[in-house]
Amino acid sequence: MLPAIILRQLIKNMSSPDFNPAVYRARREKLLRTIFKKHGASVVLMPTAPEMMRNRDTAFLFRAESYFYYLSAFTEPEAALALCIDHRENVRHILFCREKHEEREIWEGFRYGPHAAGQAFSFDETYPIGALADQLPELLTNRQALYTPLGLFPDWDHCVTQALKQVRAKLRDGDMPPAAMIDVRDTLDTMRMTKDAHEIALMRHAAKISASAHTQAIQKTKPGLFEYQIEAELLHRFLYEGAQATAYPSIVASGENACVLHYTENRRQMKDGDLLLIDAGCEYQYYASDITRTFPVGKRFSAAQKDVYEIVLAAQQACFNALKPGMPLSNYHEAAERVLAQGMIDLKLLTGSLDGALESGAFRRFYMHRAGHWLGMDVHDAGAYCEQDTLASIPLAPGMVLTVEPGLYIRAADDVPTALRNIGVRIEDNVLITENGIDTLTRDAPKSIAEIETLRQAS
Ligand code: GLY
Ligand code: MN
Ligand code: MN
Repeated sequence: MLPAIILRQLIKNMSSPDFNPAVYRARREKLLRTIFKKHGASVVLMPTAPEMMRNRDTAFLFRAESYFYYLSAFTEPEAALALCIDHRENVRHILFCREKHEEREIWEGFRYGPHAAGQAFSFDETYPIGALADQLPELLTNRQALYTPLGLFPDWDHCVTQALKQVRAKLRDGDMPPAAMIDVRDTLDTMRMTKDAHEIALMRHAAKISASAHTQAIQKTKPGLFEYQIEAELLHRFLYEGAQATAYPSIVASGENACVLHYTENRRQMKDGDLLLIDAGCEYQYYASDITRTFPVGKRFSAAQKDVYEIVLAAQQACFNALKPGMPLSNYHEAAERVLAQGMIDLKLLTGSLDGALESGAFRRFYMHRAGHWLGMDVHDAGAYCEQDTLASIPLAPGMVLTVEPGLYIRAADDVPTALRNIGVRIEDNVLITENGIDTLTRDAPKSIAEIETLRQAS
């Protein structure tokens, strides 16, 4: 019988509509069956992230390593999992985690301990993390392949190589180390690239929270406020709505700061006539959202700001049209480049023909990034963009989630028309590829000029 406190925690997890250990166990099974087809009897070893010190005796807020979480849903530090499949395809799901510790739990909070963790997270065997080094050699013995992240955490690499050394030392006893050592992240990246129903539900929720935070930011902005005050509004909304963190540092970039792609200083005082570019998204139950909206600090866009905004909006629409299952991902990059480069010519930022601007790459002066990236547990999520053998662009498939984020960034320069100087616009949404096209997860964030000006005038 489990002590009452553990039962309460178990019930808390189990009763959460988002927590179902079977989802994570099924992922572990799928990983093992995929590996078995390639290598036969194998072992997967996956650590969680190390704790990182912020200063002296204070650690950064801990976040479990994404691949580890994907396979376990286990969020405590000092944990690792071992998944074994033998030549008869029998599997073992093993978790190593911290032991219960009355005093540490008084200071830092609840720990499952191996026994309760095994029950709550559906592992067949569990051991204290202190037993890992002793058990690793046996786990590595007589397997065809070892799948583990390589070069991710130096301490982990050391721990694994020490264990391999120990197996090798017993070659004369007939023990063999794994014939192949493979980075497990490649196989997991392929799995993570297509989201299951559980993940999509979480991403929808993350997107909803972030869209409401952007709406609030549009309403709360006014000339005289500092960028960090709007950052505070975003964070308030994220946490108030139940998100655990930001998915990445919020970019709240007014005026010329909008032309700095990863501006995170957020200290400038905003003034009437500026545009404010906000790139911010929350992380909800380990899933990211990533939204950018650009709007006037005053009541309306200037004519030049409107011109730039409409080009970016048209580029985003062209991207949406290019996102269909079966189409290569690269189509949407090309769609964005075409519309943006034509826009630059129309604005007299570039001279010559569209094909000339595309061919020479001259448009890169005002559009330096790609149209977007995979989105999931990590803001720039796991998954290749090209096929490994042919380097051809990945074809889109239902269940993939990506961002669509064209932008134009016009730094001040003598050859740039005065009215356009220091205008930076990016518009970013998150889309799920469906059977027919896309489902825009972030559709609640206001985007048209009319919607935005209505909100600005009401605030
Ligand atoms: N917020 C980071 C990005 O849009 O890629
Ligand atoms: Mn972004
Ligand atoms: Mn993005």
